Amino acid sequence: MKVGSKIPSTPVQQFVGGEINQVDLADFSQGKTILLVAMPGAFTPTCADDHVPGYLAKAGDFRSKGVDEIVILATSDFFVVKAWADGLNPPEHVHFLADGSQAFAKAAGQLLDLTELGLGMRTQRYAAVVRDGKVISFAIEPDATAVSVSGADAVLSGL
Ligand code: BEZ
Repeated sequence: MKVGSKIPSTPVQQFVGGEINQVDLADFSQGKTILLVAMPGAFTPTCADDHVPGYLAKAGDFRSKGVDEIVILATSDFFVVKAWADGLNPPEHVHFLADGSQAFAKAAGQLLDLTELGLGMRTQRYAAVVRDGKVISFAIEPDATAVSVSGADAVLSGL
């Protein structure tokens, strides 16, 4: 994934009302600006304490700056991602989606191997602004266990 590239049409998942929704983010971004925030896992300390809270707190500011939808994408299974989202009560334009089999991460060239830590294959931590399926900006963390360039404040200031 890089500025100017198309995001993959590889589906990611959301568990809603007992159903598994397959979501094509390239389709989802047609006619819209979406902010894709990818992170290694639901409930992990950095994701839960340092990454997601800023996006929830600033969700309205992103809207004001032209971001129609915020997608939090975690490489955890969709049951776990649903439990995480349910506990956070996100605004309706913040969507928690799952890339449990890392298929999107692989297609995007963003796989992160945390096997030695016991976490298996995950996604890199990044934030990408996407419009009509095309990447407008891309900020990837040099260290996926920390949040700097992909954090809400940094991304908001770049819009
Ligand atoms: C985290 O807290 O998000 C995290 C921990 C270990 C590896 C990757 C991410």
